[in-house]
Amino acid sequence: LIHFITPEGLSRDVLTHILDTASNFVSLNDREVKKVPLLRGKSVFNLFFENSTRTRTTFEIAAKRLSADVFNLDIAKSSAAKGESLLDTIANLSAMAADIFVVRHQDSGAPFLIAQHVAPHVHVVNAGDGRHAHPTQAMLDMFTIRHFKQDFSNLRVAIVGDVLHSRVARSDIHALTTLGAAEVRVVGPRTLVPADFTQMGVRVFHQLEEGIQDCDVVIMLRLQHERMNGALLPSSQEYFHQYGLTPEKLRHAKPDAIVMHPGPINRGVEIASEVADGPQSVILPQVTFGIAVRMAVMSIVAGNEA
Ligand code: CP
Repeated sequence: LIHFITPEGLSRDVLTHILDTASNFVSLNDREVKKVPLLRGKSVFNLFFENSTRTRTTFEIAAKRLSADVFNLDIAKSSAAKGESLLDTIANLSAMAADIFVVRHQDSGAPFLIAQHVAPHVHVVNAGDGRHAHPTQAMLDMFTIRHFKQDFSNLRVAIVGDVLHSRVARSDIHALTTLGAAEVRVVGPRTLVPADFTQMGVRVFHQLEEGIQDCDVVIMLRLQHERMNGALLPSSQEYFHQYGLTPEKLRHAKPDAIVMHPGPINRGVEIASEVADGPQSVILPQVTFGIAVRMAVMSIVAGNEA
């Protein structure tokens, strides 16, 4: 694995190797991640053309725990704002001896384009591109599921909400099917969960209670207004009434089901606070595991594994 652009097309062995490598970075109490010298002398450039709290911060923490030097380009104050092209930006940062580019971009395909133009010793990690892919989110989601449920083969997983605009949903579906989940469902209104998602090997539901019935894992998604181009939507209250996950609705899933969300959460829209902060929520452990998973991905693409 030289770049990490999407989980689509990667083998079960490769995905499992990422999860196993991440396990090496998680200490026994699941919270502290060891500092190691695997990327000492390497330069990691964080290029976030879209906003981020979790991904950008955990990539920075992960790079520092691998002993890399980390540079966060402030895109709003960069020369991209003066019209410099994406590839010219990359060429100039490459001239500063970048080893790894971590790229989030509003355009699907931007990290792939960059990967086609960098020198062979430079690695590109996709931190989320348009509605295409968010591969490290998928891997931290898989790590979380494996941590709490051990084996994928018996699991029924529901992904609920704005699946259409979600790069997380697409990457999770690819990773879950490759890792052998028994059943993957997508749940939401017809406008946000089109029937053609069945082509990805998932079952489509338009009613929340039915969609999460007997599920082991429920992954909630926010409405991605920034990718909707003014499409007509129900009000937040109407949406919450139909698709918001409340403690009552969660009872349709298995009693030991875990509730996940990539964040940011919109309380009272797709999820009630009682669920987000409740005993079945693993939303914050997902964030913590993101550090180890991003350490694993960067060390693997750089060829300096634990
Ligand atoms: N899950 C996720 O990508 O969150 P951020 O947008 O805060 O990075």
